[in-house]
Parts: sequence; structure tokens; C-alpha cells
Amino acid sequence: MDFKTIFENNCAWIAQKTESDPSYFEKLAKGQNPEILYIGCSDSRVTAEDLMGMQPGEVFIHRNVANLVVSTDSNLNAVTQYAVQYLKVKHIVICGHYECGGIKAALHPSDMGQLNSWLQTLRDVYRLHQAELDAITNEQVKFDRLVELNVQEQCMNIIKIDHVQRAWYATGFPRIHGWVFDVRTGRLKDLELKVEELFSEIRGIYDLKPNLT
Ligand code: CO
Repeated sequence: MDFKTIFENNCAWIAQKTESDPSYFEKLAKGQNPEILYIGCSDSRVTAEDLMGMQPGEVFIHRNVANLVVSTDSNLNAVTQYAVQYLKVKHIVICGHYECGGIKAALHPSDMGQLNSWLQTLRDVYRLHQAELDAITNEQVKFDRLVELNVQEQCMNIIKIDHVQRAWYATGFPRIHGWVFDVRTGRLKDLELKVEELFSEIRGIYDLKPNLT
């Protein structure tokens, strides 16, 4: 990797942006007003804005290994609170991807050091859906399905967060969306999850409404 190239690329990018709009960066500096919080995988093949055709300023982004929503993750919590309470995003997207290394690791238990506790959340997703997953004999199909089920569970996890529920009950937003990016074709797939219906099944356990301030 020639780092000099990166800075040359940056200069070319500035020239390209200002050629069509000379005040591009002036406008960008004024602030951000994204409508979407995107939570995706850190995988280098899954570049958030690129695959959506979005521009700087349009998406608030959080990425981690296997796009997990872990309630004790202070980074995730800070990002979510800021997005919901201050940026007032209308949508939260959890975007997984096929061929995800984190998911693959969760399918094949082994000691991975520091990654063990992180991957445990994925193994919990497997346990929650073990009957369905163990009934799939084709390994690739099973792998793909765990990617999808992980997105579904992380959509559930984001609604469990108090900041999200507070905004949700007050305004009806954010809406939660579960997507999967297929690195094999480049296609972005909406899983069309009925997140509100799914949450209603577990509302008795996770609904904070009576105590929200
Ligand atoms: Co991944």
C-alpha cells in the first residue's frame, strides 16, 4: 500500500466534488442532517455509503464485527443515543452481509481469544434459532440463514434500547430495517422484517414504556 496515493486520491476527490459544486465543503461544514443510522459490519468489502449510493452527510454510521447491537457496548449506545435524540434519525438500518467472517466463526466453535466474548452474542443467536438452523443440511444455506437471523436479532436488540423506545413512543420513529448485502453479487436485500410485530411478541419482557422518563 502506497500511502502517498491515498493523499493524492484525496486531492483528486476534493477537485471532483468542488468542480460540480464550488461550495460543497462550505455546505458540508455547516452540519449534518442524516435520516439514517446505519449499523453494519466492519468487513472491508461492505462499504456503507458506496453500496447505498449515499453521499457524505446522509448516513450516520456505526460498524463493528458482524453488525452486533450489544447493550453493554458504550460505543454503540453513544452512537444510538446521539442519532436518535439529537440527529432525530427517521430510520435505523441493521445491515449484515453474506460470507461474514464473524458469522462463520460462530458456526465453528473454537478459542479465538479476545473475540470469544464478542462472538458469544452470535452463538446466542444460533441458540435462539437452533431448531431452524440445525434442520438445514446445506452448510452454505445454513451460513446464509444465520447471517439473516443475526440481522433480525440485532433489529430486536436495537428496540430494546431505552433511547430508541423513548423516541419510538413519542414520534413513531425511528423505523427499524433489516438488510443483507450480498458480497457475491453486490445486491442489497431488504429482509422485509416486520420488526414491530416481532417486538410485540417479546414486548412483555423488554417494553420499557411504563417506566420511560
Ligand atoms: Co462481516
